[in-house]
Amino acid sequence: MKLILSLSSFMLIIGLSSPVYAGNKEAGRALVEKNNCNSCHGPDLKSPIAPAYPKLAGQHADYLFYALKAYQVNGPQVGRSNAIMAAQAKQFNVTQLKDMAAYIASLPGDLVIKK
Ligand code: HEC
Repeated sequence: MKLILSLSSFMLIIGLSSPVYAGNKEAGRALVEKNNCNSCHGPDLKSPIAPAYPKLAGQHADYLFYALKAYQVNGPQVGRSNAIMAAQAKQFNVTQLKDMAAYIASLPGDLVIKK
């Protein structure tokens, strides 16, 4: 009994007992629209207003999530250091980042080959 209990709490801690949260596209769309991500990344998120602004549409959701998370970390050795995106990313919690990543990944784009 003790073993089963500690095994299940271990699985809970490492997240095996529940599926990984994949993000909610509709919630992500609302966040992207409300925060005007398209003002730099383009109306369709794949025609940025300047070459330094990357295309986002259709990129893998986990890539987008980790990129956004890295801007939040914004440290000297780990994370991404970019003043613009650090300011953008800092306001969101993990669920919101995953929601936006799921939405952006669902948009048509030429960054990745989808199966
Ligand atoms: C003021 C302009 C601006 C706005 C607004 C903006 N971004 Fe960005 N974004 C940038 C720039 C510039 C970069 C490239 C930064 C770098 O070099 O790391 C970037 C990079 C990114 C990346 C990394 C892409 C990659 O391929 O690595 C993601 C993801 C991203 N932005 C998502 C968003 C989201 C989501 C929003 C809205 C919440 C947003 N951006 C709003 C300018 C902007």
